[in-house]
Amino acid sequence: SKHVFLNLVFTCTLMKMPYAPKSVFRLYMGGEDIEDSCVVELFRADTLQACGFNHSHPLVIITHGWAMDAVLEKWITRLAAALKSTQKDINVLVTDWLELAQQHYPIAAQNTRIVGQDIAQLLIWLEVPVGRVHLIGYSLGAHIAGFAGRTLAMSGRTLGRITGLDPAGPLFEGMSHAARLSPHDARFVDAIHTFTQQHMGLSVGIRQPVAHYDFYPNGGAFQPGCQLHVQNLYAHLAEHGLMGFGQTVKCAHERAVHLFIDSLLHPDKQITAYRCSDHVAFDKGVCLDCRRNRCNTLGYDIRKVRTSTSKRLYLKTRSLMPYKMYHFQFRIQLFTQTEKADTSLSISLTGTLGESETLPISLVEEISGNKTYTFLITLDTDIGDLMMVYVSWDVGPLSSMWSKVKTIMHWGSSEEGPQLAIGKIRAKTNESTNSHKCGTSKHFIDNNKETNKQIN
Ligand SMILES: *[C@@H]1O[C@H](CO)[C@@H](O)[C@H](O)[C@H]1NC(C)=O
Ligand SMILES: *[C@@H]1O[C@H](CO)[C@@H](O)[C@H](O)[C@H]1NC(C)=O
Ligand SMILES: *[C@@H]1O[C@H](CO)[C@@H](O)[C@H](O)[C@H]1NC(C)=O
Repeated sequence: SKHVFLNLVFTCTLMKMPYAPKSVFRLYMGGEDIEDSCVVELFRADTLQACGFNHSHPLVIITHGWAMDAVLEKWITRLAAALKSTQKDINVLVTDWLELAQQHYPIAAQNTRIVGQDIAQLLIWLEVPVGRVHLIGYSLGAHIAGFAGRTLAMSGRTLGRITGLDPAGPLFEGMSHAARLSPHDARFVDAIHTFTQQHMGLSVGIRQPVAHYDFYPNGGAFQPGCQLHVQNLYAHLAEHGLMGFGQTVKCAHERAVHLFIDSLLHPDKQITAYRCSDHVAFDKGVCLDCRRNRCNTLGYDIRKVRTSTSKRLYLKTRSLMPYKMYHFQFRIQLFTQTEKADTSLSISLTGTLGESETLPISLVEEISGNKTYTFLITLDTDIGDLMMVYVSWDVGPLSSMWSKVKTIMHWGSSEEGPQLAIGKIRAKTNESTNSHKCGTSKHFIDNNKETNKQIN
């Protein structure tokens, strides 16, 4: 019958056509040029042996994103080298899907499913315990890792870990979890979002959480140090042409990769990030809390705690590697005589290892009445345990008449009219809470004295 005939044809087709991957898998051997890597061919065990693949070592596969030209970007070698040099006994493979990636974006985005399939087939053929496999994907590569994990899951295998480095936004944002990277794709999924600034309704990096832990450094929209690239866009274009344009766009997008590399290269400068509802609340300094898994470490050494919902974590970074900044949260009680105080506050901190420069305090709300305010201070050097804080302020109705008034929680006996005074200040880092209650009687601004008050 016709039915049997069709079945036969189908069987024959399956047998005649073994899986033909569209991607090339390169085993990183060390060195500076990824082109020198050794190509592992699917279903050819001799290539594994020739490349020195060691079955007893864990496997990391790095997957790139959309390609503007036919070269593997420099960060791939940097990441591979950082993994290889710090983890020692590890196989580092690179998925080279340049041919499918160097297309118009919508086509490249469509091709991510094919590449995901290729990786899943490779892992099944390798017969490695997939629970020990870690896929690291940048931009479109993050969704590729998701599709690979999903394909494996359909055959009853659960991938160990996926790290999405600024997963691509366009054509993935708002999609169902099956059509993008999601926490369902591996036992543990983490993502770093670094370029989610919207432009004409689209953002290069995906804004929504796609992992168990989603990190939003500096709010996730844009990154420090990349502003220059945008400001100099035209100069850059004139000098470097379209290649320069690529670099400009890539600064914040690629920052996710360099934050991850940083976590490998600087074990002493691990970055802690904190769960928070959004970056405005984080900037307000109310989220530095590590209880009940509210904080985690960004990068390779993340604590792999599985959670039922995606957790958004926030942190501030420097503009250069090492990116770590030290976060302090303050609560300050202010008393003013007037309804609105036209005041700018600044602070400096002294710790067991050093002191900070004087930094402006930016309060989210304006100072009015007698209230408690919170704010966040970040330092790019480690000052150790906090010992002293020094607060100063400028007060005045008109900027030209501003009097420089400096004081600190020392309530002197000056007879001048009180305008602003501090009641109580509380400082907190991720682990300890130091609190000091100041005098609560009459508060005056002390024009003459500059005093420090010990916090503990
Ligand atoms: C694989 O690595 C182990 C050590 O981790 C080593 O003892 C073994 O000889 C290696 N195998 C091959 C084929 O290189
Ligand atoms: C704040 O409290 C002080 C007394 O502690 C009082 O003199 C002052 O009028 C209050 N300011 C406002 C705006 O309520
Ligand atoms: C708190 O921060 C310090 C230094 O910034 C870091 O060494 C430590 O691991 C952090 N603690 C937690 C619980 O994250």
